[in-house]
Amino acid sequence: MERTLVIVKPDGIKRGLIGEVISRYERKGLKIVECRMIEADKATLEKHYIEHREKPFYEELVSYMMGGSIMVMIVEGNNAIKLVRNINGKTNPVDAEPGTIRGDFANTMTENIVHASDSVEAAEREISIWF
Ligand code: PPS
Repeated sequence: MERTLVIVKPDGIKRGLIGEVISRYERKGLKIVECRMIEADKATLEKHYIEHREKPFYEELVSYMMGGSIMVMIVEGNNAIKLVRNINGKTNPVDAEPGTIRGDFANTMTENIVHASDSVEAAEREISIWF
């Protein structure tokens, strides 16, 4: 059994896609075991995105994530980390397959509806930041 950290990003909230996102995980047999709607502060986002701090898009990403409410959740199930990444689709909307969340709803690299942990280590680290 694995746990992964998912964030519904400000564009996902503004577009009313919380139910759509959650239902895709639930239909796959995954469970939402913790869930909170919050307004993220800069310090927490800087911890969360520390691996991207040298990237050119870092400042834009952090300020975008402070531009509206986000929903942070822990999703649990067999192979939850990989399954959630598959359901979300690739980061670049050009590569995200139709049928994935980003493939169906996103068209930029920043406003791409959801974030999810990409490894067991990342999931543990990110869950401890938000919960
Ligand atoms: S990368 O390029 O391998 O670092 O991409 P990835 O690990 O998938 O995550 C990058 C996160 O930063 C957000 N973001 C961007 N990525 C790439 N290019 C640009 N221009 C960009 N702008 C923002 C992207 O949405 C990923 O956010 P998370 O929340 O991790 O999904």
